[in-house]
Amino acid sequence: MTGGLYDDPELAARYADATANNVCNAAYERPAMRAVAGGVAELDVLDAGCAAGEHAAWLTASGARTVALDVSPAMVALTRARLGSAARVVEADLAQSLPFAAGSFDLVFSSLTLHYLEDWLPPLREFARVLRPGGRLVFSTHHPFMTIDEVPAYHRVTLVEQTWTGFGPEPVRVRFYHRPFARMLADLDTARFRLRGLHEPVPAPEAEARDPALAARLRERPWFVILDAVRGD
Ligand SMILES: C[S@@+](CC[C@H](N)C(=O)[O-])C[C@H]1O[C@@H](n2cnc3c(N)ncnc32)[C@H](O)[C@@H]1O
Repeated sequence: MTGGLYDDPELAARYADATANNVCNAAYERPAMRAVAGGVAELDVLDAGCAAGEHAAWLTASGARTVALDVSPAMVALTRARLGSAARVVEADLAQSLPFAAGSFDLVFSSLTLHYLEDWLPPLREFARVLRPGGRLVFSTHHPFMTIDEVPAYHRVTLVEQTWTGFGPEPVRVRFYHRPFARMLADLDTARFRLRGLHEPVPAPEAEARDPALAARLRERPWFVILDAVRGD
């Protein structure tokens, strides 16, 4: 399993530029994830699926001891260039065992990454292993409303292929998995996480100025969902 489109250095750089100030990431997902995560000062935090390091930069600036991880060498290079010695940046695949000792982190923070994996149990079990007792997992993923019209049946985990524009002159094909809420919650439970909260964010006020039509759409039909869970015993 790789990051797919994010492996290409040129596309990774375009993704970083396009999402630095856009509505979906900068004025919707990122403020919502940070609000759910809350205070991170002095915490050991794993940013799992760091892309170009937007959240990792916020984590380090907020006082977290941050390890940023991504499967894409191009994204790892962008995050390293951005953060220098402020964070450790690791190339690793969330579908495999993670290169961290048990009980290394207080918080696993994973933004818009898990929907690229078909099977969530391996990464969720690894997140539970690398968290300390009582540690938190906060992650965002595609809301099933975002993909419901693209799959034959809501209840099955299903590969979706979409064409995305906005990352340069050529449209790009993107593959990820639709997943029903029941499967998300069952997998969290199997990996021994206890759900604390399920958040369906609305766009931040600045989204209105940047793209009123998209902001209105996101207010009416969520694209992303944020889950907040605690490692059980
Ligand atoms: C949409 S981006 C994440 C958004 C990012 N957090 C931000 O705020 O800009 C998804 C990231 O997940 C990474 N990714 C996809 N599959 C992965 C896997 N199996 N293991 C680790 N990273 C993965 C991709 O390389 C990409 O950088």
